[in-house]
Amino acid sequence: MPIAIELTRALDPSPAGEAGAGGRTVDAVGRGVFADDLESGDVPDGFDKAFLASQGFEAKPGQSCVVPGADGRVVVALGLGASDDVSTTTYRKAAAALARAAQRQTHLAIDVLDAVPEGLDRPAVAQAVAEGVLLGSYRYTALQSDPERSHIESLTVVGKGGKRVQAALDRGRSIGEAVRVARDLVNQPGGTLTPTAFAARAEELAELKGFDIEVLDRADIEEQQLGGLLGVNRGSAEEPRFVKLAWEPSGKVRGTVALVGKGITFDSGGLSLKTSDSMIGMKGDMAGAAAVLATFTALDAVQPPVRVLGYLPLTDNMPGSDATRVGDVLRIRNGTTVEVLNTDAEGRLVLADALALASEDGPDAIVDLATLTGACMVALGQKIAGVMGNHEAFVDQVRAAADAQGEPVWPLPLPAEMRKSIDSDVADIKNISGNRWAGASVAGLFLQEFVAGDIPWAHLDIAGPADAAEDDGETRKGGTGFGVRTLLHLLAGFRTPATASTTAAKAKSKS
Ligand code: BES
Ligand code: MN
Ligand code: ZN
Repeated sequence: MPIAIELTRALDPSPAGEAGAGGRTVDAVGRGVFADDLESGDVPDGFDKAFLASQGFEAKPGQSCVVPGADGRVVVALGLGASDDVSTTTYRKAAAALARAAQRQTHLAIDVLDAVPEGLDRPAVAQAVAEGVLLGSYRYTALQSDPERSHIESLTVVGKGGKRVQAALDRGRSIGEAVRVARDLVNQPGGTLTPTAFAARAEELAELKGFDIEVLDRADIEEQQLGGLLGVNRGSAEEPRFVKLAWEPSGKVRGTVALVGKGITFDSGGLSLKTSDSMIGMKGDMAGAAAVLATFTALDAVQPPVRVLGYLPLTDNMPGSDATRVGDVLRIRNGTTVEVLNTDAEGRLVLADALALASEDGPDAIVDLATLTGACMVALGQKIAGVMGNHEAFVDQVRAAADAQGEPVWPLPLPAEMRKSIDSDVADIKNISGNRWAGASVAGLFLQEFVAGDIPWAHLDIAGPADAAEDDGETRKGGTGFGVRTLLHLLAGFRTPATASTTAAKAKSKS
């Protein structure tokens, strides 16, 4: 059920009051507590410093403590950390902590907005609060007979603020809902979320949320010569699909951004079969495609000033009797031939076609998201994405967007010197280097081959953060929807990166 979110100036102190969203009685209130205020004894109304201390509550960011209030109302202390060290991320986590602590209550209120330290953008905080409640209350219950559901139906945000704050709450809700769409897709098993089912879901969402979609079936894919996608699909009983998405802003247009997402609906490894243990979780190997699709569902709400295009290659990677053999050579959309020496390095093969297609449409920038390499997890762990690219300023733009949204990313290099490690004896290029060094960078170098000319491109390897091993902040165990917020933030603030040719053109026009 969608959660209703509404702004109110002040909450009626009496639980019998009618201060909640839509005039409903509020039955749980979250109040922000700064660590320095707790230290000096300056705790908000309804809290007892000694009680909070007895519960081990230190107002650490993301920490919460439930306190019984008057007439059965629940009051939740929400830790915000030091008041000189808060960001929108702090408030997203606090709201998520409230959603988790009060998941048995129906009508929630959160009182943090009026104490937002100076210098922080109040609408951005409001947006993060809405996102936090939607994401903290998320559960994947579709396949459980008697699921433990969140009971939350409404959120009343207490605070002064006009249209801008209310609009930010609405935007936060749309973004939260989009991230939930991505999580549902990642959590759905590969046996039912086939490429065909994924494409059908995309069509449903396009209709519902107002963006354009084109679904290429096997015949179209053959006609378009997407040899990477066809090669990976060869071992499967399921047909491949290639989904193209498009969205236009209603106002001014500041450029075109192409989003590419890896859509392997299940990765068995193919003939280079994975071990039982490493196959667990491979239903989520379409998290990149899910993030891109989910991003489109929030574009109408966010209204970024750019045209947005989406490219989703969809197939599973299976070891059927006609599967691509080790040593086979595939011809990618752009004519490049690839020797497949490990069928488990399949993501780069389907992305190659997608990046080539995206390049043909001549966007001002390309971003791809892919659960691409275990090596990226070895380097950065389970919670940090690797970011690579061919254009430093654009990679910085992506990093800044991710930082602003509290989605951790860290740069990895694409050393030109390493490119020769994927030279092939029989084809233009091979899909693995044959050694175990710098696997994330080698995969990135492979992808770079399919980005045309000097189109600024950034690659996010989300193998780690696409799936969570534990609940943490706004994240819940399982699919995270990582990347959706980063993409939306990037699109909203997109600046066309200067390319080598535009820089040259400027220099020319000056002289
Ligand atoms: N989908 C995997 C990468 C992955 C691993 C994602 C763990 C999430 C968690 C990818 O297709 C893959 O199998 N990569 C291989 C590449 C290797 C064969 C060069 C890997 O990382 O082992
Ligand atoms: Mn694989
Ligand atoms: Zn894969």
